[in-house]
Amino acid sequence: MSEEYKIPQHVAIILDGNGRWAKKRHMPRNFGHKAGADQIEVICREAWNMGIKYLTVYAFSTENWKRSVEEVTGIMTILRNFLETAIERSNRDNMRVRVIGERSRLDADIIKAINELEEATKNNTGLQFNIALNYGGRDDITRAVRHIAEEVKNGELQIEDITEQCISDHLDTHDIPDPDLMIRTSGEIRLSNFLTWQLSYSEFYFCDTLWPDFDKEELKKAVDYYNGRDRRFGGV
Ligand code: IPE
Ligand code: IPE
Ligand code: MG
Repeated sequence: MSEEYKIPQHVAIILDGNGRWAKKRHMPRNFGHKAGADQIEVICREAWNMGIKYLTVYAFSTENWKRSVEEVTGIMTILRNFLETAIERSNRDNMRVRVIGERSRLDADIIKAINELEEATKNNTGLQFNIALNYGGRDDITRAVRHIAEEVKNGELQIEDITEQCISDHLDTHDIPDPDLMIRTSGEIRLSNFLTWQLSYSEFYFCDTLWPDFDKEELKKAVDYYNGRDRRFGGV
């Protein structure tokens, strides 16, 4: 039986294990975050080479503010450094970058850099790269519900118009197809508030590899796993 090898259109990744990767090397946690950030760029290139169109990475959750000030500051510094050269690198690779999540809690200079990056890359036709920053699946749904309620209150929307499609259209991912494949590294088998609504019918792949070690071969293994799955979407 020869079936065509399927490439998932949209891959979402919970990049986990940076802290443990650093600990194994007797280094501070932020050393792991830096290595993890560098690995995101590698995987963006490999994903595009494989034919993946959308890649969404969970970089910072609404719960990650609970970490020490030192760690949060370290992550924000890595983010600032990434943003400094992101426009140039994204345009070179024809990559469109978008940020999902509640960005108003981020520092003003970071928000400005994100807005500029999105604007400068919006017409790029290569990889559609989405970064989830201060993102929570429940927060995404909560903000959507608020917007919908406001539109109903203003008379712009009727209650009968609140369909699944209407809710999808009010999420941060409104113009991005739902992920086909969700990958979580580092051995944890949970969603940790990632894309709660959007992952309803995605295939899940978990591996023990820590994120900074997740390379081209690991990505290929995940896509191989995806190929072995039979997506029925409730049918037979
Ligand atoms: C994932 O790595 C990156 C972020 C959540 C920012 P962790 O920092 O969660 O690494 P572990 O899970 O402690 O090893
Ligand atoms: C999920 O990882 C969040 C990100 C990868 C950004 P965490 O390491 O924060 O999740 P828990 O605490 O193990 O559930
Ligand atoms: Mg973790």
